[in-house]
Parts: sequence; structure tokens; C-alpha cells
Amino acid sequence: MNQPIGQTSILTRSAAGALIIDGKAAAAGVIADVAKGSAELAARGVKPGLAVVLVGEDAASQVYVRSKGKAAETCGFHSVQHNLPATTTQAELIGLVQALNADPAIHGILVQLPLPRQIDAQVVLETISPDKDVDGFHPVNAGLLAIGDRKRALVPCTPAGSMILLQAAARELGVSLSGLDAVVLGRSNIVGKPMAQLLLAENATVTIAHSRTRDLAGVVARADVLVAAVGQPEMIPGAWIKAGAIVIDVGINRVPGEGVDAQGRPRTRLVGDVEFAAAAARAAAITPVPGGVGPMTIAMLMSNTLSAARRRAA
Ligand code: GUN
Repeated sequence: MNQPIGQTSILTRSAAGALIIDGKAAAAGVIADVAKGSAELAARGVKPGLAVVLVGEDAASQVYVRSKGKAAETCGFHSVQHNLPATTTQAELIGLVQALNADPAIHGILVQLPLPRQIDAQVVLETISPDKDVDGFHPVNAGLLAIGDRKRALVPCTPAGSMILLQAAARELGVSLSGLDAVVLGRSNIVGKPMAQLLLAENATVTIAHSRTRDLAGVVARADVLVAAVGQPEMIPGAWIKAGAIVIDVGINRVPGEGVDAQGRPRTRLVGDVEFAAAAARAAAITPVPGGVGPMTIAMLMSNTLSAARRRAA
């Protein structure tokens, strides 16, 4: 039986001794704080507003968008969803984004990715007003994060959530991130690069490794903090993990499971980028998949929306 420990209930101790970082519990805590902040702002006459735009019928995107809408309602936000057909032109999507930019009831705009082929996602993301860019993908927000202006930047949700989990684990372990060797696997604009900036802001010594990195095992073996965001199921063997490391696994990969479900379809299961059981036997703390970083992404979207509304109200 895992036992809750520490001041928070987001950490449990596994049989192997590693702290297991419960992202579901942490996300519930963030959502509760946001709901409180949202009620306070509403009492001053400003109800935070979030618009989510979905183009096409990608099944995974539909699930994410529904979860975002539900979380927005839990937070007491004004929540709107725009569902556009897969045939939507870039000009039509840009027209909608411009209307949302001009709408005073909307403080946050999220255009769900990926977008259909006829639309250049970067052009659309750059149309979103930086102060409503709750995904933190606009070059203005990426730039503010890069120069260390956390007060003005809207930070991408997955790295922001990963950082909260990492800091909770470090606090419990009694270690400071300052001076630690942090390795980020993956160099995407959505996770890898902003994660590296956040770690650098905490004075970690940061390495970004990627598909062309030589001697990946050697790089991983040096990591006091490992953040894996490559999207390759269990690509990092547990044996590579440095003893006592903190491991944040951002990967959410669906792989074949065992047997069939009630409808006779082959079962699937979710795994991370790290081989969990073997890594948990070496790490000091680790996030599970599912139930680690995943739930934090939506929670941080709510947090960014509240921040954007507060800034507008100030
Ligand atoms: N698709 C997968 N993850 C994300 C995300 O964080 N933001 C957006 N807009 N689309 C996504």
C-alpha cells in the first residue's frame, strides 16, 4: 500500500522506495485554487473567459477539448467552444481568432493542435493576441520566457505543470534545483524548449537532448533531473536512470494491451517515455503514466486563463 507523505497528499512512497508524484491530486489542487481566484475576480465584476477552438474531428483532440471545457466550468469560467469543420480555410480560422481577440468577455484563446493540412498552425498561433495566448505558444510569450520575464509571460501548460510536480518532489527530498544537472529529452516548442527555460530559471545546468544526440545513455546517466518528452513508448530503459534522480515523464503513448474489451476490440494501455517500474527502482521520485504530468496540463491552462483575466482586470 502506498502511503501519503509530506505536507501535501500528492506524494506517495512506492514499495521500491521512490516517491510517486500524483499529478491527478496536484491538478485537483491547482483547479481548486483557480476556482477560488476566479470567484474572487467574478466578485469584482470580471468572469474569466476561455474560448477553445477545434477544427476537424480528430478523436483525441475531441477528448482533450471536452476535458478543457469541463475544467473551465469547474473553475466558474465563461467557457465557449467553437467546432469548425475539417474543410475550414486558414482565412476563416484567422477571422474567428481575430473576433475572439476583440471580444472583451474572452481572456484566453486556445486553438487545439494539430490543425488540418491546409492551415499553417504557426500563422494562426501568431494571430492570437499574446495577452490571450493561454497556450504560451506565441513568439512574444516564448521570448518573454527566454529572457526570464515570468511576470509577463504566459508559460506553456505542460512544462509549467511539470515544474510544479518537480518542485514538490524536490521540496520533499530536501534538495534545491540550483546547480543540479537537468536533462530534457525532446526539443519541441510546446514542451522541450520551454521546459529547459524553466529549469534554467531555477539555476539548473540544462542539457537538451534529441534524436541526433550521441550517447543518449551517457547523457541520461548524468541527469539529477530527467524530463522525458519524446513521445516514444518506454524508450528510456530504467537501467539508464541515475540513482536518486527525479524523473518527470511527459510521454503519453498508447500501446497494445492484453486481451480484448467488452466490445471485442483489442485492449490498449498508456505508457510513458520511461520504463516505469525499472526507473522507479532507481529514482528518488518519478511521475507515473497515466496520472502524472497529463492532468497538470489542463490545470495549468485554467491557471493561465485566470492570470490573463487578472492582468486584464488590473
Ligand atoms: N494538442 C496537444 N497538446 C496541446 C496543447 O497543449 N495545446 C494545444 N493548443 N493543442 C494541443
